[in-house]
Amino acid sequence: MHKSIVFGKIQNLDRFIKKNPIKNLGIAIGLVVGFATMTAQPVTAAEQVNIYTSRHYKADQDLFKAFEKETGIKVNTVQGKDNALFQRLKREGRNSPADLLVTVDAGNLGRAQKANLFQPIRSEKIYKAVPKRLRDPKGHWVGLTIRARVIMYHLDRVKPSALSTYEGLKDKKWKGRILIRSSNNIYNQSLVASLIATMGKEKTLAWAKGFTANFARKPKGGDRDQIRGVGAGVADIAISNTYYLGRLTASKKAKDKALVAKIGVFFPNQGAGRGAHINISGVGITRHAKNVKNATRLIEFLLRKKSQKKYANANYEYPVRADIPLSGIVKAWGAFKADHINVVNFARYNADAVRIMDKAGWR
Ligand code: FE2
Repeated sequence: MHKSIVFGKIQNLDRFIKKNPIKNLGIAIGLVVGFATMTAQPVTAAEQVNIYTSRHYKADQDLFKAFEKETGIKVNTVQGKDNALFQRLKREGRNSPADLLVTVDAGNLGRAQKANLFQPIRSEKIYKAVPKRLRDPKGHWVGLTIRARVIMYHLDRVKPSALSTYEGLKDKKWKGRILIRSSNNIYNQSLVASLIATMGKEKTLAWAKGFTANFARKPKGGDRDQIRGVGAGVADIAISNTYYLGRLTASKKAKDKALVAKIGVFFPNQGAGRGAHINISGVGITRHAKNVKNATRLIEFLLRKKSQKKYANANYEYPVRADIPLSGIVKAWGAFKADHINVVNFARYNADAVRIMDKAGWR
């Protein structure tokens, strides 16, 4: 708490200097006397924040640009795959230029935390914006967006009344009718981890065996390939993150339009159930960040109403803030109840999930 008050003061001072650099320089220097670390550096030093990110969306880049414009803080990004970025951060250690790591899936965020790549975030604003179940209790990372991993079905071949829960997909009536990507995929590992957290390892293994036995083919491709498979008649239902269907829906290609017209979205485990499986993409401040203040400020910026709206509209994800209305394509899928489970469970049960999927023959 004390730290965030100090942080606020420095932030205001920063703005004050930037607004009128020459006129206020003398007053500003007077004000920073006592801040040894600040006076040691020239007041005019270029402010920056460096991000390693595995997200590669235009919406993210647009938000970084808006942050630059508003604050004068230069945002530098390095894009890469999760594993490559983790390895790079580990290798670079305290010499790493990265201040922030942005990645998808709470399973990945938990893995980065376990590898000691983060430091706790210090900002009440951030904790106020992100619900407890969508962030690390120790503050090492917070969610920026939500994605739901749900059932997508062929409108002509499946009645929604035949669908109910993830658990129900082990039923023999689905034999040869399900498409889902490989067990290497973190989204699937987190989905299985959520089942372990809910019903224990034994029941989850029994479920995984039945579920895997119902696959229409050996898993291949990404989520969109599973939806396409349903459209092409390879199977009747697919498990996919919602934003992939969002992108197909927004596509101007005739073949994507024809595909989307065949597909329905079903949110499982509704009613008295625990809710549909959701995951996050999120961010943490790196352990050896040199620009902690700017990094904190950028996270705060990304959690503002306006930024959250942008994420929701541009990438067909759900905002982590509860006070943002859904729009367009996302709204058309309907309101749903999300699983209340804390996303920290996805990393907690990741190793068990991988073992169970392996035992069940999920390739
Ligand atoms: Fe994805």
